[in-house]
Amino acid sequence: MKEQNKIGIITRNPASWCSSQLQLAIIKRGYEPFCFRFPEIKTRVGFLPKFEVRGVDLLEEVLALIVRPIGRCSLEEAIFRMDVLHRLARLGMIVINHPSAIEKCIDKFYALFLLEEKGVPVPRTVVTENADEALKAFYELGQDVVIKPLFGSRGMGITRVSDPEVALRIFRALSFTHQVLYIQEFIPHGNRDIRTFVVGNEVIAAMYRESSGWKTNIAQGARPKPLRPDEELEELSIKVAEILGCEVAGVDILEGPEGYVVLEVNSQPGWRGLQSVTKVRIADKIVEYVISKARS
Ligand SMILES: Nc1ncnc2c1ncn2[C@@H]1O[C@H](COP(=O)(O)OP(=O)(O)O)[C@@H](O)[C@H]1O
Ligand SMILES: [Mg+2]
Repeated sequence: MKEQNKIGIITRNPASWCSSQLQLAIIKRGYEPFCFRFPEIKTRVGFLPKFEVRGVDLLEEVLALIVRPIGRCSLEEAIFRMDVLHRLARLGMIVINHPSAIEKCIDKFYALFLLEEKGVPVPRTVVTENADEALKAFYELGQDVVIKPLFGSRGMGITRVSDPEVALRIFRALSFTHQVLYIQEFIPHGNRDIRTFVVGNEVIAAMYRESSGWKTNIAQGARPKPLRPDEELEELSIKVAEILGCEVAGVDILEGPEGYVVLEVNSQPGWRGLQSVTKVRIADKIVEYVISKARS
C-alpha cells in the first residue's frame, strides 16, 4: 500500500478562497492537497482500481476527502455524485461531510422535519406540489411568508410575499414548472441572524449577519459582525449538527420573538465572511479534524 499523504478536496474551483485556505492548511500539516472536480472521477465496478482521478488511485493514495459545494448539476449527475460519495464512504474513505449528512442538509424539507422530530424550534412551514393548497397555507401562516426553493443556497430564489394575489401567481408559476412549493412563516428578526460554525463537537466560531433587508446571507450583501455564542446557542448548534450527522456545519439561526429558531444547516458552508470576524483559523480547524479522524 502506498503512503496516504494526500488529502482530497472535491471542488469546482481550487483557486476559490475556501479551497485555497484548505490547501494551505493541508500543506502546513505536511500533507499534499489533491483538488479535483466530480467530472474528473472515474469509478470501476468488477475490476480495479475502484476510484481513479487523473491517474491517482483514491483509495490507495488519499487519506480523506473534503467535499466543497456539489454545485449545479442535472438530477442524474446529482444522484451519481452522491452515489460516488456513498461508495467511497462504504469502502472506508473518510468523507467530510458524510454523504448521508449532505443529503439531509441539502434538502430543506428533509432537514427541517428531522430537526422538528428532535424538538428543535423551526419555523412553521408547509410543503406541497399544489398551488391552491399553497394559497391556503399562505393564509394559515399569517399572510407574510417566505417561499424557498427546496434545494438552494446563498439566499438565491427566496422571496417574501404578503400579497395573496402575488402569492397565488408565484405558486401557480412554480407548480406549472413542476417545482415543489416550500412556504414558511416569516419570522421578524430585525434584519439580523446568526451563523454558527460547528467542527466535530464544537462551535469554533460564530457571527451575526446584519443586513439592510430581511435576507441576511453574506452573498446578499449582509455584513458579518463578531459574536461570542452563549451556552444555549452552542448547545443548540451542536445538537442540530449532530441530528443531521454533520461534522462540519454552518448553522443559520434566527432570534425570533420566542427565542432561537433554526432555519437550516449548511453541510458545505463557506467561511470567508466569518473568518473576517474571528481569530480562530477555520480552515486549520477543519483540516485538523479531518486528519485526526482519519488517523484515529
Ligand atoms: N422564515 C424566515 N423568516 C425570516 N427570514 C427568513 C426566513 N427564512 C429565510 N429567511 C432569511 O433568508 C435567508 C436565507 O434563508 P435560508 O433558509 O438560510 O436559505 P439559503 O439556503 O438560501 O441560505 C436567511 O438567512 C434569513 O435572513
Ligand atoms: Mg442559509
